[in-house]
Amino acid sequence: MCAKVKFSSIALIVISIALIMGSFHCEVVEDNYGWDDAHATCYGGINGSGTMFGACGYKDLFKQGYGVETTALSTALFNKGLTCGACYEIKCTNSKWCLKNGTVLIHVTATNFCPPNYTKPTENWCNPPAKHFDLTQPMFRKIAVYKAGVVPVQYRRVMCHKQGGIKFEINGNPYFLLVLVYNVGGAGSVVDVKIKGSKTGWLQMSRNWGQNWDFHGQMVGQSLSFRLTTSDGKWVQADDVAPSYWKFGKSYEAKKQFSF
Ligand SMILES: *[C@@H]1O[C@H](CO)[C@@H](O)[C@H](O)[C@H]1NC(C)=O
Ligand SMILES: *[C@@H]1O[C@H](CO)[C@@H](O)[C@H](O)[C@H]1NC(C)=O
Ligand SMILES: *[C@@H]1O[C@H](CO)[C@@H](O)[C@H](O)[C@H]1NC(C)=O
Repeated sequence: MCAKVKFSSIALIVISIALIMGSFHCEVVEDNYGWDDAHATCYGGINGSGTMFGACGYKDLFKQGYGVETTALSTALFNKGLTCGACYEIKCTNSKWCLKNGTVLIHVTATNFCPPNYTKPTENWCNPPAKHFDLTQPMFRKIAVYKAGVVPVQYRRVMCHKQGGIKFEINGNPYFLLVLVYNVGGAGSVVDVKIKGSKTGWLQMSRNWGQNWDFHGQMVGQSLSFRLTTSDGKWVQADDVAPSYWKFGKSYEAKKQFSF
């Protein structure tokens, strides 16, 4: 009886330790969807000017559906561009500069890089290993007093909610495709892209920069299909996204979207 009780208490302790370690593990892993600490500043104009055409390769964020609800990420979060397209929920915390005492939540998509500045002695917020969000000015103003400049925040990865299908802008030349993948729902951050012409099998694309993926070869005159994998391991296959008469510089919308 006693031994049995002892056994179950030990088992309980083991389970509790496993649970505590599990939740601790959740806190420190980047792709975890739990709250983590960081700081936020802002850049660009009050209408989002100066935040377009960033390091993720997205262009006019209004036309591409992101609007001003975007952020630039410090080196620690940017992951050399692999995090482009990820979505975050952010709240201002523990500062007199927070609006409504930190109860306002904003949702932003990562569209740009906040570069480090190693010669700056102070306020070098975007230097590694700092986790930092350089928000658009309108998003910063939703959570904090503008003149604060910088505020402590808490953030977590959340699912991206996007309208319509995944979009593909096809650039390059007849021997080299550079495809910008945008309007991605779910985890949002695409980590692998495969392409298939109507006369080819599935072929690997390479990430060139941001969310621009390249392929060396000829695809002119073929309809194009894509298979995308996001950072959470989920994938979708979008068949015949672009018709055989697709044109360079044009965007094509898939009927598919990641679930969220
Ligand atoms: C944003 O404001 C700037 C001036 O601050 C102006 O030049 C620009 O046209 C505005 N952009 C939009 C989209 O309204
Ligand atoms: C603001 O929020 C903090 C943390 O949640 C809380 O301790 C504090 O009482 C709040 N202040 C006011 C004025 O509501
Ligand atoms: C880096 O910081 C220094 C010192 O504040 C400044 O003079 C310089 O312009 C900054 N460089 C960039 C690229 O912003």
